[in-house]
Amino acid sequence: MKIINSISELKATVKQARQADMTVGFVPTMGYLHEGHLSLMYTAKKENDFLVASIFVNPLQFGPSEDYAVYPRDLERDAKLAEQAGVDVLFAPPEAEMYPQGVQNMNTYVDLKGITDKLCGKQRPGHFRGVATVVTKLFNIVGPDYAYFGQKDAQQVLVLKKMVQELNMNVVIRVLPIVREVDGLAMSSRNVYLEGPQRQAALVLYNSLCQAQKLLQQGQRNAGLIRDTISQLISQQPLATIDYVEIVDLQNLQPVEVITDAVLIALAVKIGKVRLIDNLLWEE
Ligand code: PAF
Repeated sequence: MKIINSISELKATVKQARQADMTVGFVPTMGYLHEGHLSLMYTAKKENDFLVASIFVNPLQFGPSEDYAVYPRDLERDAKLAEQAGVDVLFAPPEAEMYPQGVQNMNTYVDLKGITDKLCGKQRPGHFRGVATVVTKLFNIVGPDYAYFGQKDAQQVLVLKKMVQELNMNVVIRVLPIVREVDGLAMSSRNVYLEGPQRQAALVLYNSLCQAQKLLQQGQRNAGLIRDTISQLISQQPLATIDYVEIVDLQNLQPVEVITDAVLIALAVKIGKVRLIDNLLWEE
């Protein structure tokens, strides 16, 4: 596996693969890789001839009071894991390579209306603009045929799918299921922040989604009732504070009253200061 830091070298390397008629898969990440990222890489490797992964903690998608400075980073460890997962090129640009003018002096953004001010977008203004902008930059740099994302970031997936469709980008977005720890906690780079009893308390997200799924399987279609059940379960956990619990239409993220179509049950919960998200996709 080759580690590349510069945009021009990355472009030249991918060009060579293209000239050899290879298809190009791409897994963008912010590093501190876990099984969720690795499952994207394994699948991408199977589905493409040449696999690029990126590691870039994108300052543009963090709010001023968020964890950009302390976001976990370990390039050496990540490089070993990526190589084992079959990555051909690991693109790990420094901030000045991606934002030579500085993030404060950007002129161009990719900003989606409507779906970005709901769910996580409500609590994290500017977050999805940062994601859409950096992913556009990465797509322009790598030029992949297929790009891989995890369903755990359900809103991100919807935003990126709409972006690709509306801006006619030449890439297919592939979405893979949430990967969980054995006890059900959704894999996340931020799980390393959980200390002592917080790790156990964090199970309340998955457990409440399981309860919601049980109600749906029993035929319950009243979204308000399911939402209340989830909220009550989470509120019983003293270390947990709800950011949001929402049941929304999968296409536009508008809250639904009665479940008649595919919905996303999405949660954001703080365990101590650690903000975790999880979700359940329900298709009728
Ligand atoms: O999902 C992530 O890790 C990030 O939002 C992404 C897609 C790599 C963009 O920085």
